[in-house]
Amino acid sequence: MYKKRSLFITFEGIEGSGKSYQSRKLFNKIKKMKLPVIHTREPGGTKLAEFLRNLILKIKSDINIEEEILMLMAARSHHINNIIKPALDKGSLVISDRFADSTFVYQGHVNNFGIQKAKSLHKNILNNFLPHKTFLFNLSTSKIIARLKNRRSKNKYDKLERNFHDQVNRGYELISKNKRFIKIDASKSISSINKKIINTINLLI
Ligand code: TMP
Repeated sequence: MYKKRSLFITFEGIEGSGKSYQSRKLFNKIKKMKLPVIHTREPGGTKLAEFLRNLILKIKSDINIEEEILMLMAARSHHINNIIKPALDKGSLVISDRFADSTFVYQGHVNNFGIQKAKSLHKNILNNFLPHKTFLFNLSTSKIIARLKNRRSKNKYDKLERNFHDQVNRGYELISKNKRFIKIDASKSISSINKKIINTINLLI
């Protein structure tokens, strides 16, 4: 039924939108079909990148935005070279929970580094390595705040307030005018979102 074809898929969106859950659900489904697939995440995906993730997200250090973005790029470079590219070379489907679009939105837009500047760094340092398709989970700020109240593990971004979430939503709106993005209404039921994702993947592989 399926042709073996390498494919790089990312899940993006505001925290609490359900993207991580849905990305793992897709991974489990593809695995059950006995197709080659890996699930990974950013920041992270390798031992070094996970170490950097911890530094960036958990430790309240006084790194500035330039230092933060360079750490994210270092982590991403290691992730691409050691996990993503080798898997794609073997014909695997690669599913990543977040990737470069998060940098364009969180550092580029929200933290004022500049979306274009972040994109141009990505172009120059990482050869503009981008996913084939990106599922973008949209959810209003009020729904996000309600969902995050019930979350147990919070990173430094989870704790921020309404204005921050508005800016994240606006950032995604700004970068997503491109046919690589498949928009997902994250207020819909888990099963209808899953159906939409599976249908899209079926057309691609
Ligand atoms: P999450 O994996 O639970 O969504 O949390 C990761 C957090 O890291 C999230 O708040 C967004 C943030 N982040 C950035 O600020 N820049 C990035 O490039 C990436 C990948 C994530």
